[in-house]
Amino acid sequence: MHGPSQQPLIPLANTPTRYGIVAQTFHWVIVALVMLQFVLGIWAHALPISLERLILLARHKSIGFTIFGLVVLRLGWRLYSPPPPQPPVPHPVLRMTARLSHILLYALLLSMPVIGWLLSSASNLTVSWFGLFSLPNLVRPDRRLAHWLLFTHQSMAWLLLTLVILHISAALWHHIILRDEVLLRMLPFTRSGDRTRNPP
Ligand code: HEM
Ligand code: HEM
Repeated sequence: MHGPSQQPLIPLANTPTRYGIVAQTFHWVIVALVMLQFVLGIWAHALPISLERLILLARHKSIGFTIFGLVVLRLGWRLYSPPPPQPPVPHPVLRMTARLSHILLYALLLSMPVIGWLLSSASNLTVSWFGLFSLPNLVRPDRRLAHWLLFTHQSMAWLLLTLVILHISAALWHHIILRDEVLLRMLPFTRSGDRTRNPP
């Protein structure tokens, strides 16, 4: 006896109408880690050279590599279990903007750790993953290069923040104005199809 109301709330894989638990977990864990990255990065940047600053930066770097690994796994899962198709939006340009912004978000989440790693190498700082193993330096120490890479890493951080603000605004716009399922299908504890099955 399995009526629709007894189905598990969230399936493991994505379905044509919602993100499954795996994609949702990837999304929200990465969101939390990216927020932590901003706190640690800005906090460390504000401190003078000290042990505290080095510890904060070491955490920042380890979490940055973790994000990189999670995004690679997330994209692998995305290939295996494609996301639900976009619901109709008022204009094709908006649909393209949504696709482009998702591509850019993934690109930044993958390239920022690499730029950070190059930055640490150029600053002659060896990086490790939570002290468990060290990663090789990618380039020779070079002050000018380090300066340029820091500027690039910072610019990318502000671009990421801008995109995330746009991304959140778009999610809220879908939910409040368009009244579709785009936000609900990325949230745990919500049942997909509620809005279409029971229109207000
Ligand atoms: C998605 C991952 C990452 C994000 C979102 C991120 C974000 C940030 C932010 C917001 C800052 C502060 C910039 C400022 O104060 O203007 C920063 C600084 C920094 N990040 Fe990252 N970062 C990431 C990954 C990494 C990785 C993997 C490394 C190194 C292996 C790294 C190395 C650094 C360094 C060395 C600084 C400079 C601190 C300073 O000297 O001012 N970051 N990052
Ligand atoms: C660091 C912050 C965030 C990052 C980097 C991020 C990144 C992403 C990415 C890359 C996707 C595309 C998923 C796919 O492959 O299909 C996505 C989807 C989504 N995100 Fe975020 N996100 C962030 C924060 C948020 C927040 C705070 C919300 C809620 C207000 C949100 C709501 C959504 C929704 C509803 C979708 C599904 C869009 C759709 O179905 O087309 N995200 N996010």
